[in-house]
Amino acid sequence: MNLYNDILKRDEKISVVGLGYVGIPLAVEFAKHVNVIGFDINEEKVNSYINGVDVTKEVGDCELKNTTVEFTNDESKLKEAKFHIVAVPTPINSDKTPDLKPVIGATETVARNLTKGSVIVYESTVYPGTTEDICIPILEKISGLKYGQDFKIGYSPERINPGDKVNRLTTIVKIVSGCDDETLDIVAKVYEIIIEAGVYRAESIKVAEAAKVIENSQRDINIAFMNELAMVFNKMDY
Ligand SMILES: NC(=O)c1ccc[n+]([C@@H]2O[C@H](COP(=O)([O-])OP(=O)(O)OC[C@H]3O[C@@H](n4cnc5c(N)ncnc54)[C@H](O)[C@@H]3O)[C@@H](O)[C@H]2O)c1
Repeated sequence: MNLYNDILKRDEKISVVGLGYVGIPLAVEFAKHVNVIGFDINEEKVNSYINGVDVTKEVGDCELKNTTVEFTNDESKLKEAKFHIVAVPTPINSDKTPDLKPVIGATETVARNLTKGSVIVYESTVYPGTTEDICIPILEKISGLKYGQDFKIGYSPERINPGDKVNRLTTIVKIVSGCDDETLDIVAKVYEIIIEAGVYRAESIKVAEAAKVIENSQRDINIAFMNELAMVFNKMDY
């Protein structure tokens, strides 16, 4: 629980790795309460944010101009943070398998700059098992630190729908998970700083990963079903 208190007191910083539609609202919202480093490999994007231009239009230029987020593409700045949030893309390959290159790349970057006592929370949409089976071994190997002892892990899927100005980051219940009870508590409390709707504590990282996959699939099925009905009713001349 010390890490949460230290973040609140601004003795420790949060980093957001990947500043797209998901990362930029998170970084800006957290920065209203705590110290935040915003890291992205896209130098042009980072420079836009530094100049107060929101290329995602999720937070707007005005909020960006007033934010205290320290935008950077210098990965060594991540050494200053102890709570890392990874929000990089998860596209698919041409054979429809997940392309984990950005998640692996971001994990390697965090690992190179990881310090003892850190918590890393993944927000990228992934299949259940990715965080524990793919990311933890990379973090351990590159950082030389021991998982569970030197650093902890969490997963909290992002549920925003970019462009929706009514249901926003702060007004949608956030699912949170952690590798143990203490980490779950830290992750939950940190997100509670910004999420007005509150958080839902999932029983495990895999459950939180699965919840996001289920939500996305259900939305796709709904959209496909309505498209089918529209086509059927058009043919029936209704
Ligand atoms: N956009 C949505 O509707 C939405 C909603 C919920 C969840 N998600 C999930 O959130 C994740 C992020 O999505 P997004 O829409 O913000 O993507 P995005 O493409 O808008 O932004 C991702 C950012 O990550 C950066 N990046 C890529 N590799 C990096 C690395 N190795 N290190 C640091 N930065 C890196 C890119 O430069 C980019 O700025 C994805 O997994 C996505 O599925 C997206």
